[in-house]
This record gives sequence, structure tokens and C-alpha cells, in this order.
Amino acid sequence: MNLSVFSSLCAALILCTLLLGVSVLSETLCNDSNLDIEGGTYTLSKERYYGSMLVYHCPEGYYPYPALARSCQKSGSWSPPPKRRPTPKCRMVECPNPLVLESGSVFPVLSQYFADNQTTYECYSGYTLRGSSSRTCQPNGKWSGGTPICSGAIEDGAKCADPGIPPGAGRTGDFFGIGDKVTYRCDSGLNLVGSKVRVCQENGQWTGTEPKCYYKHTYDTPLEITEAFGSALRESLQVLETDSDTDQFGKKISVDKGGLLNIYIAMDISDSIDKAEFEKSRNAVIKLIRKVSSFTVSPNYGILFFASDVKEVVNILDSHGKNRRKLVDILADLDNFEYDARENVGTDLNLAFKTILERMAIQKGRNATLFKEMYHVLIFFTDGAYNMGGRPEDTVAKIKAMVEIDEDAKRENHLDIYVFGVGSVIFDEDITPLVTKREGETHYFKVKNGEKLEETFDEIIDEEKVVGLCGLHKNYDSGTPDTQRLRYPWLARIETKHKDGGLGKCMGSLVTPDYILTAAHCFKFEDTADMITVLIGNKEVLKVERHILHPQYNIKAKVDQGVKEFYDYDVALLQLKKTLTPSIKTRPICIPCTKETSAALKLSGDQITCKQHEELLLDKSYEEAKFMSHDKLRDNMEQENEVKLKLKDHRDNCIGLATKLEGITADNLKTIVTDNFLCSGGRDPTRDHVTCKGDSGGAVFKDYDDYRTIQVGVISWATKNLCPEGDSRKQESNDDSRDFHINLFKVLPFLKKHLGDDTSERVPLNFID
Ligand SMILES: *[C@@H]1O[C@H](CO)[C@@H](O)[C@H](O)[C@H]1NC(C)=O
Ligand SMILES: *[C@@H]1O[C@H](CO)[C@@H](O)[C@H](O)[C@H]1NC(C)=O
Ligand SMILES: *[C@@H]1O[C@H](CO)[C@@H](O)[C@H](O)[C@H]1NC(C)=O
Repeated sequence: MNLSVFSSLCAALILCTLLLGVSVLSETLCNDSNLDIEGGTYTLSKERYYGSMLVYHCPEGYYPYPALARSCQKSGSWSPPPKRRPTPKCRMVECPNPLVLESGSVFPVLSQYFADNQTTYECYSGYTLRGSSSRTCQPNGKWSGGTPICSGAIEDGAKCADPGIPPGAGRTGDFFGIGDKVTYRCDSGLNLVGSKVRVCQENGQWTGTEPKCYYKHTYDTPLEITEAFGSALRESLQVLETDSDTDQFGKKISVDKGGLLNIYIAMDISDSIDKAEFEKSRNAVIKLIRKVSSFTVSPNYGILFFASDVKEVVNILDSHGKNRRKLVDILADLDNFEYDARENVGTDLNLAFKTILERMAIQKGRNATLFKEMYHVLIFFTDGAYNMGGRPEDTVAKIKAMVEIDEDAKRENHLDIYVFGVGSVIFDEDITPLVTKREGETHYFKVKNGEKLEETFDEIIDEEKVVGLCGLHKNYDSGTPDTQRLRYPWLARIETKHKDGGLGKCMGSLVTPDYILTAAHCFKFEDTADMITVLIGNKEVLKVERHILHPQYNIKAKVDQGVKEFYDYDVALLQLKKTLTPSIKTRPICIPCTKETSAALKLSGDQITCKQHEELLLDKSYEEAKFMSHDKLRDNMEQENEVKLKLKDHRDNCIGLATKLEGITADNLKTIVTDNFLCSGGRDPTRDHVTCKGDSGGAVFKDYDDYRTIQVGVISWATKNLCPEGDSRKQESNDDSRDFHINLFKVLPFLKKHLGDDTSERVPLNFID
């Protein structure tokens, strides 16, 4: 038997593939003529051997025509075959036809719309425009903004708003009453992504998600994915973060909802996706899991890879109960999984869904009551192509049916199926029916060549719209003002132009989008709010509406006892004129005893107390903390300093050094250094950094896990000035230098009064007792 006969005889058997290895299969070579593309280039995944993928690349704003890619078949021919006519060419990206607007006009009217072409929309009189009044055709083949819709007076019986017609689409159905149906189709050459049919519901919303018409070459940009997937995923995670529930007797119960979230991740590793893409997807998955871990919930994971067979890298059934697997182990398993190209002899997408269905059935069998409360998120990475195992739609329908066990409409919120289309050719029409569809959410994403998927996931929860996540930050600071903002997005500098011409400099921390927390002694009696400016980052200079000193702060209170300056209750809040929009560079730090901070500390349940926060944050005799100080040599830069707060049995020893100051004696020590102060400094057990002039008002903070920061104190005063003029280095303590910081746990009534005020227009923090 000659080798080529042998290889074709057993080509379907993995065993033979293993025995023969690549060298024999490589007998077949695909022809190299007519492969070039005008205006672009191509790459081959396994040269011209059987199984190789030829992928065309065009400059931005262009796409390969007539094919995006070809694969080398066993017979030695390319599929699709290259022809002399039409010759492969990079064509200008087009956007779907926008001239579908009803009751309005579109300018300009063109026969085709290319990248950078702009359109404007106007409604006839009596109609009002919703959506974008002007849109630009983007290089990814999509119009910017949202579908423009001209709606007229609400007709009798209409319940839902006019759902409009997306570019490139046509709609049948012009009645918008309860139960009315609209059906969409796309122009030829375009695939419909989203809901083909939508029904007007009693709540005035259309079922499903807005349809869009995609060309084969249309893809989603990383930014679009970040926004859409990020908000959908956050939605799922935040549903679970609400930490209390009411049982049937109206009694509050608390459950560890984390255990109720099942995240299944399935990755296609068949020959349609090459090794480099596999690595990108794997790294993206690792990144995604890390990001999810910065939320309060810790989900159960099921991770599988599939081609002709399914490899279950992490079995979700192992993550329940007491022997729950640790996240590090899950990530290690994922990291250790070897991609083996020899196993790629087919794609059974259905088998991947079936495996998940089985796992769900086992979970349901174990405890049906518990299963009813569970949430399931399925995330698939695939090109949508399959050549064995049959259509996955039926299995997906079974998964939906299993979750939707009762009439309760809300049940559908317990299942999300997302598909990331990765690969050089993506089969939109096969993927669209698989994903779940929900108003205002996108569950299908088309990624260009798996490009930037990891970065996309990295941005997902740092996206501008994440509110409510205090103290969240990126974990790198490469020493430029920009990266420093990402690490300390709450950092504020405060300047006060006093009446006498002097300029007072202090530090502060953003504690809500409206308030900066700082020290009261930064302000003189005669200072007014208009003399104060707050600096966030390099440029942003903010005006102050009012400055609120703690009512019990009185620096002269003990002058008659020989103490020139008395710093008890040395805290102040600056209310900003304009509410800040949280972003990755501007985000509040967490402060103790709020629900927001409970979430950061991963404490869930209704009975969480302020005391528990204190036990987590200020419990050890030497509690590690940090503060920021000016870097005097580098403009706009601060540096991180480390201290150990001396608590419990070490506190007395620490504050005792204050008696070296004029007016403070062993007798009056505790009335001057009151219980409201945290103490740091000295060289025991390790040498602390000390604060310098200008650091006052800054946060004393603790980092919690990798991504969250919680403030515990405000820098107030020091026994010594150990900071020489012009020396930019961080300064270290000597034996008897001490720093005192206001303990935030001791000024909670003040913080709560202003920051927890839910009667003002400002967004309050939710304080706990
Ligand atoms: C490749 O195809 C061209 C045209 O179809 C043909 O003339 C040529 O002989 C083929 N080359 C090989 C190596 O088969
Ligand atoms: C639309 O884009 C094409 C290609 O860039 C350009 O040639 C044409 O002038 C544009 N038309 C308008 C009206 O902007
Ligand atoms: C099933 O789950 C419910 C709800 O979490 C729980 O109360 C019950 O004890 C569980 N039953 C079994 C048999 O484990």
C-alpha cells in the first residue's frame, strides 16, 4: 500500500494521523497560482499543505474580495478555488444602505456608502427623530451611532415605540400594539444578526434585540465589544452582587449568590482556528476570568475545548460544595492545556453544547430547588463552522427549556449565551440562532482575526460606565503621569490661595463623584470655597462649591493647656461644583462602612457590620498601609510610601513619642493624641516612610486583593519634619519620629451625614451600621 492511499484510507481516524504524522499528510500540496491579491497580502497557516488556511489581509477600510480566506483540501485544491476572474482584490469597505428611513430624508443619497462617508437624517414635519441625526460609515463596515427613527404621533392601540429599520434591512409589520409582530430581512449579501422577529410586549418593550445587517467582512471593534459585552456581563454580575433577598415570609435572607453563577467557556480548537489564534483566545479567557474575579461574586467555572471531540479542562461539577477548586488551580489547568493540531479533524459544535447540557442536567438532578436559582452564562469562541455532530440549535433549545422551567418571565434572565466569532471566515448565519437575545444587549461579537481580544477583555470592567465599584484600579504604574492615574485614580491635589497671598498645598482623595476628602487644617478660617482648586491628573482643574470642616475640629481648643495646635477631627470634605464622571482615570477610593466597600471586601449578606470592616482592615498590631507623597523633582507625580500602623498593644508605645513635643506630657497625652488617631513611624518592626509638608489630607490606604483600594485614614500631623528642601526621595523614619492620621472609623457620622445624604441630587454612598 503506498503511503498516499494509506493516508486517504485512514484519514478520518485520529490514530492514523498520529501514526503518519504531518510529513505523510503533506504529500498533498495545493496549487500556488492565482493566489495573490491586488492591494493586499496573504498568509498561510501550514504552507500549502493539506489543512492550511490562506488568509487575505487588506489595509484598514478595505476587505478581501471575493473570498476572505481559502483552505487547502485533502484533494489538493483550494476551497473556495481561486479563479482568474474575478481576481482577488482589496475592495473598499461599504456600509449597508441607510436609505431605509421612513418618514424622513437622508443626505446625501448615494448608490454606495464607503468608509468615512457621512450621512445626516431629518424627519418630516410632525415626526421626531430618535437615534443619531448624523452617522459615519466606519472602516469595520458599520455605521457609527444608533439607528435613526422618525416617530409620529402615537397611534391608537400602539404600546411599543416604532422599532425603526436598520440600514440594509427591510421590515414587515407596521402595528405596534401588544402582541404585534415585526419581521426583518437583510439585503442580499448581508446576514441578519440579532432578532429576525420581534413582538411588542405588555411592558412596552420589543422582545429580543435590534437586528443588524452584517457583511461577511463586517466585524466589531474592540471598543464596541468592550462596551457591549462589558455592560451585559456586568449586568449579570451585579444582579448577583445585590446581597439580600426576601423569602416567602417576607423575612430577609442572605445567600452566597456567587455559588449560583455558572460560567461555561467553550473554545473551538478545530483546524479552522490556527494555533496563534488559539493562544490569543486562551489568553483572553484567562484575562476574562481574572477580571470577573474582581467582582464580589466567585462563580463556578466549566471550561472546555472542542474540535471533533470535547476536552473538558475544568469540570463545573468539581466547583461545587466544600471541595471547591481554587481560581489559581483553574487558571493553571487552563494554562497547561496543550494545543495539539493533530487532533483537528473536524468540528462538532453540537457536542460542546451537549456537554454543557449534560452538566446542567446533573446539577439539576442533584438539587432542583437550587438549580432554579442558578444563573448560567455560556461563552463560546468559534467561527461557527461545523462539519459533524449535527445542528447545535436543537441542543441550545433544550438548554433554554431546562432553564426556563416555570412560567415566570424573569427566568430567561437566568441564561446568557454569548458567542465570540473568531477566525478568518465567520459564519454569522449559523451563529445568530445560538445566542440569547435581550433588549439592549448584544450577545454575538465578531472579532477580526482574534485580534486584540485579550486587550478587549482587559478593558471590560474598567470601562467608563462602571460606577459603584470604588477603589478599582489597574495594577501597573510604569512611572508616567498617565499610568499613575490608572493605579491611583482617586488621587487629588488641593491648592488654596490664602488671603495673605500664600499658597497652601495639600492632598486629598476622591470619595464620591462629588466629594474630595482631605484634612481640615489645609484651610484657614478666612478661606472661602472659591480660593480652593482641586487637581485631578495633569490637567483637570476643578472648582469647589463648598468646603465642610468637621464641626468638632478646632485647632486652638487646647491653647490654654499649652498645646498650640490641636488636630482632633482634622478632616474636611470639598464638594465639587461639577459631578465627575467615573472613568478609568477618575474613580473614587473606597471608604469604610459602606455597602460599596463590603463589595470590594467580598463580604456578602445583609448582616455585614461596620465592625466586620474594621476587623478586616485594622486588626493586626502592625497593619500595613500606604500613602502617597509628592515627588518634588517630577511635576505632577507622586510616589507610594509604606507604613505599618501600630494598633492594639503597640499603639501606646507609638503615640508616647508625642510627648517630645512642647506642651504634650504623659498626663495630657491621651487627650491630645485622642483615640481618633492612627499612629505610624519609627523603625520597629520595619522602617516606615514618613509624611512631608504638602502630604497633609492625603489618604492612608490599604490595597485589597489585586484591584481594589480602601482608605482607612487621613494624614494629619507629625512629630518631626524629616524632609529636607529639594530632596525628592521618599523619606524614612528615625526611631522617634511619628505620624498621626485621622482614623476614618472614628469620623463616620460626619462622613455619613454628607456622603450618605440621599435627599440631595448627588449620588449618595450606602452606609452600614
Ligand atoms: C496550477 O494550476 C495552473 C492553472 O490551473 C496549472 O497550469 C498548473 O500546472 C498547476 N500547477 C501545479 C503545480 O499543479
Ligand atoms: C464617499 O467615499 C468615497 C470613497 O472614499 C469618496 O470618493 C466620495 O467622494 C465620498 N462621497 C461623499 C459624498 O462624501
Ligand atoms: C437544595 O438547595 C436548597 C436551596 O439552596 C437547600 O435549601 C436544600 O437544603 C438543598 N437540598 C439538598 C438535598 O441538598
